[in-house]
Amino acid sequence: MEKLDSGQLNRVWSPILSPLVWDLGHIANFEELWLVQRVAGSEPLDGSLGELYDAIAQPRRVRGELPILSPERVFPYLDQVRERALRALETVDLEPDAEDPLLRDGFIYELILAHEHQHNETMLQLMQQIPGYDSPDLGPPSAAPVDTEGPAMVECPGGMAEIGAGTDGFAYDNERPQHTREIETFLIDRTPVTNGDYRLFIEETAAEPPMYWVADGESSWHRERFGREEEISPDSPVIHVSHQEAEAFAVWAGKRLPTEVEWEAASVGCDRERANLDHLNWDVAPVGSFADGVSDCGAVQMLGDVWEWTSSEFEPYPGFEAFPYDEYSKVHYGEGYRVLRGGAWATRRHTIRRSFRNWDLPERKQIFSGFRCAKDSV
Ligand code: AVJ
Ligand code: FE
Repeated sequence: MEKLDSGQLNRVWSPILSPLVWDLGHIANFEELWLVQRVAGSEPLDGSLGELYDAIAQPRRVRGELPILSPERVFPYLDQVRERALRALETVDLEPDAEDPLLRDGFIYELILAHEHQHNETMLQLMQQIPGYDSPDLGPPSAAPVDTEGPAMVECPGGMAEIGAGTDGFAYDNERPQHTREIETFLIDRTPVTNGDYRLFIEETAAEPPMYWVADGESSWHRERFGREEEISPDSPVIHVSHQEAEAFAVWAGKRLPTEVEWEAASVGCDRERANLDHLNWDVAPVGSFADGVSDCGAVQMLGDVWEWTSSEFEPYPGFEAFPYDEYSKVHYGEGYRVLRGGAWATRRHTIRRSFRNWDLPERKQIFSGFRCAKDSV
């Protein structure tokens, strides 16, 4: 982050994304609210900040206008909150059977970590739009072995599928309670849809290209991110497409998007340690990579590379209870958001799991979104 100057941190690059300096203050304020105030029972450093960094009270389009902390002040605020939070950590009972459900199994610490990591990914969405950002090389993800030979689609057996997170360990409220759903046998693409396939779709249907694609002329494209020109690899998963575009592709291909329940059933057995996560190379890996992270039914790259659009709207599971606050999930149900699964190259490894549910509006494509198709088994 040191490489971004104050102007870049303050600037509003897009009405659907916050200035980076708002995310930084919000990360600190969320940690202060839950760990310093709620857990340790201490007073906040500055009580007026809560309102400015409240994500529901301040929608993204107004965040550039708020009297929030400047870049010069936000980094010291982050440091001071972290110091006070670490002191709170020393005084509380985080045992699996702690009386306060907020502390049980260290729930609140996992929440703070996941929250910060999710905002890091949101900030990365915006950083791709900043010309001249020099992404540090974190070393290549180990993608071996690569399996480019498999069938286009694999069969996922029907039956009773176990959906959602059990009672142990950290999960968001929207992943609970765990329950079973009956599914029919179906087919699912072995890999995410590629740039090469997507290019054919655009050429045949005159659909809009993914975000960041720039036409060089007749049916030739390159990509521009971070202010740099890049080649588009035909064998890599397509990324930065909307739900509407993914659905149109599926229809064009004679297929459909999987439901989120089908997606979760098809992902049984895959391994987040063998997946392209943690923005190691700042990009997707060619399809067929991480073949040793394959799911039981034979699908690869279900975790990492691209968030995968599903046909499902974001709705509560039967018996849902908001925890620890309504604004994470509850207020977003029934608003027409579509569910995405699996995490992307920009997602932190620790925050992703098979049951994790992400959501966004169907027209959005600044998120790290791709997809794979499904089909009824006949
Ligand atoms: C789960 C990515 C849709 O950014 O709105 C961050 C995550 N919630 N702070 C969002 C979130 C509260 C959330 N998404
Ligand atoms: Fe947040």
